[in-house]
Amino acid sequence: MARSGLVLVVALCLAITVFPDTTTAQLKQKFYGNSCPRVEEIVKNVVKEKVKQTFVTIPATLRLFFHDCFVNGCDASVLIQSTPNNKAEKDHPDNISLAGDGFDVVIKAKKALDAIPSCKNKISCADILTIATRDVVVAAGGPSYEVELGRFDGLVSTAASVNGNLPGPNDKVDKLNALFAKNKLTQADMIALSGAHTLGFAHCSKFASRIFGFNRTHAVDPTLNKAYAKELQMACPKNVDPRIAINMDPNTPRKFDNIYYKNLQQGKGLFTSDQVLFTDGRSKPTVDAWARDSGAFNRAFITAMTKLGRVGVKTRRNGNIRRDCGAFN
Ligand code: HEM
Ligand SMILES: *[C@@H]1O[C@H](CO)[C@@H](O)[C@H](O)[C@H]1NC(C)=O
Ligand SMILES: *[C@@H]1O[C@H](CO)[C@@H](O)[C@H](O)[C@H]1NC(C)=O
Repeated sequence: MARSGLVLVVALCLAITVFPDTTTAQLKQKFYGNSCPRVEEIVKNVVKEKVKQTFVTIPATLRLFFHDCFVNGCDASVLIQSTPNNKAEKDHPDNISLAGDGFDVVIKAKKALDAIPSCKNKISCADILTIATRDVVVAAGGPSYEVELGRFDGLVSTAASVNGNLPGPNDKVDKLNALFAKNKLTQADMIALSGAHTLGFAHCSKFASRIFGFNRTHAVDPTLNKAYAKELQMACPKNVDPRIAINMDPNTPRKFDNIYYKNLQQGKGLFTSDQVLFTDGRSKPTVDAWARDSGAFNRAFITAMTKLGRVGVKTRRNGNIRRDCGAFN
């Protein structure tokens, strides 16, 4: 009995050393340094080319990465196409309505990598998306940073798994903090990542309730800048074509910068979830600090993106390397 107990303990210790099973330990910089040392250069070139063709690639890819990581971890589950038997993550109603160019850049980078024998089917789609996301941030003038790699691709993607995991445009600080905390992200991380709204577009329906019939006493959300509210009403009248989308950062929509936080100070946050970061006393000091100091924002953004990239990472035991990023092997 004692002897078999000892054998068991020894076997367990061995198993733990030979198969370390922490979900983050496997991630490291230059993970493909030996197998495919040019991976980052190849992805960067594809991103550059794609961004030249369509600027939308930048916000689309950034948002795609966020949604991938928040739903079932950073495992490229968001890239899976629905089949007759499975409605995939990407087709949930909260899906990435404008993200077509984000999907496309990953597919193109995968193709470029597969053209190199030592890289073919060696790089996970989740890692390609992670690299491409860093590169679009840089392409928009944001800070560069080293990416951690070594993710495996997920084996599951369902529209149902999206429910309750993504923040909504009407969420307030408590709800936002709770959703980010679920992914081991702090309030500071949440505020830094919201800075991604310095880029890209939003459909009118996402903020319509702030500019028309807000509540019984206020037709317009009183935290909105009055002139900005008028502009929004002009751009997004009632019964507007649902395909119309407007810039989230009215000043520098194509630049990754800290103007997002200056906009919040002026009541120019587009969503409730943006503006509450300034009106809530718990998050306001951080907004003020990053409106003043773009270097501090950039550092916080890098920290938060790195942490976001560690969420729910798959190992070779619950993931694989997809041959086609849009379909399971
Ligand atoms: C904090 C909670 C967040 C909420 C409530 C939120 C919500 C939204 C909504 C409703 C849109 C507009 C979608 C549309 O109308 O098609 C949007 C766009 C966008 N979001 Fe967020 N988001 C949040 C956090 C983030 C984070 C963390 C990132 C990335 C790090 C991000 C990146 C983007 C980008 C880049 C766009 C523009 C997409 C495009 O132009 O294609 N968002 N977000
Ligand atoms: C989003 O989901 C809707 C169905 O809810 C679908 O018609 C649409 O094609 C999806 N968009 C993308 C980009 O996959
Ligand atoms: C309408 O919203 C404002 C601002 O949030 C608030 O002060 C006011 O009490 C609200 N009125 C009603 C009737 O809910």
